[in-house]
Amino acid sequence: MQVYKVGGAVRDRLLGLPVTDIDRVVVGATTEEMLAQGFRPVGADFPVFLHPKTGEEYALARTERKSGRGYGGFTFYASPEVTLEEDLIRRDLTINAMAEDDQLNLTDPYHGQRDLEARILRHVSPAFAEDPLRVLRVARFAARYAGLGFTVADETMDLMRQLSESGELQALTAERSWKEISRALMEDHPQVFIQVLRDCGALKELMPEVDALFGVPQPETHHPEIDTGLHALSVLEQSSLHKQPLTVRWACLLHDLGKGLTPEEEWPRHIAHEHTGLKLIKAVNERFKVPKDCQELALLVGQYHTHGHRALELKASTLLELLQSFDIYRRPQRFEEFIAACEMDARGRKGLEQRSYPQADYLRGAAKAAREVAVQPLLEQGFKGPELGEALKRERLKALKAYKEAATA
Ligand code: CTP
Repeated sequence: MQVYKVGGAVRDRLLGLPVTDIDRVVVGATTEEMLAQGFRPVGADFPVFLHPKTGEEYALARTERKSGRGYGGFTFYASPEVTLEEDLIRRDLTINAMAEDDQLNLTDPYHGQRDLEARILRHVSPAFAEDPLRVLRVARFAARYAGLGFTVADETMDLMRQLSESGELQALTAERSWKEISRALMEDHPQVFIQVLRDCGALKELMPEVDALFGVPQPETHHPEIDTGLHALSVLEQSSLHKQPLTVRWACLLHDLGKGLTPEEEWPRHIAHEHTGLKLIKAVNERFKVPKDCQELALLVGQYHTHGHRALELKASTLLELLQSFDIYRRPQRFEEFIAACEMDARGRKGLEQRSYPQADYLRGAAKAAREVAVQPLLEQGFKGPELGEALKRERLKALKAYKEAATA
């Protein structure tokens, strides 16, 4: 049997990038031979094994045929006769369809190295269309390698467009889609992921609520970029430039969904978009079975981001309500993430990227003032149950009034 490194490990080594995961393909072996050598089989789906010592993945060379909709509809064929070239041709991109042996001899029948040099993401063969998830994968690779100058080949975009129009994306499971989306959002250029999906018509299929933002104007005085979709992309870009976690990036993408629902006669204003957007944010969250922390932050940022921007003008009582809504006493981190998302929103405006955002420290100071109200003296005064709650609220309000006065004097 012959063993080759394949996929991302070869691609990233040739790009001079660190290699984390190594996938290997085994040519000329049977399952029985692998088991006899101590390899441990994984999963029931594919003939994949773990090395007895290193735990790394070894897959038997295989061909695949699509036999139905979605990812479940696959039949594969693995046998010692399947060649390396046959295994490589079923893969998604030419840059992912190279193999190398222990001596670093490259097998590159589909010109992956040429495309690496030309900075092109190009599909290997029409078999690309057999897994619609690849539309998201290509957009994710575009987001990852945009800084190196990679773009998607025209013919690959055409294929992605056809796949999007065919309705095949609807057959993807929430879990597989979210895995791609969440990874893409954590790349260096997450806005490129959304842009590529939009350009090939996939965004309309996956997140029509985000797609609907493009072409919707905002008032130029606050938003020199005008277009709401472009604004969403810029906010996402800022979230990456500022190294924000996934929760914040997800909230950044969804914060303005309500603006897509504003009747045209009200444009460019978007009264109450914070509230109209909530049901859309909820729908997207549920569609992809998004993790709870991301869901919650997206909804809270959707509802309260304009409060964040107006922080210095808010009455002490409104400020207190905001802090209570975030349960800042038990969830301090979540409020920090809210502040970060608001700041990214403010910076995601054309020409205003560097403008300072004093609201952030003001909100932090307010949270600190509210948290510093001690419970003990109230307990000593005999307050308990709901009355204790009321007394605490009164004291916190007092503290916030004092804070506001001192901070805005
Ligand atoms: N692959 C594919 N189609 C998919 C998933 C994977 O063709 N839907 C192939 C590609 O050849 C890919 C390899 O399987 O290079 C390994 O897949 P994976 O580990 O998901 O991706 P990597 O390319 O290693 O990239 P990453 O750095 O994102 O892990």
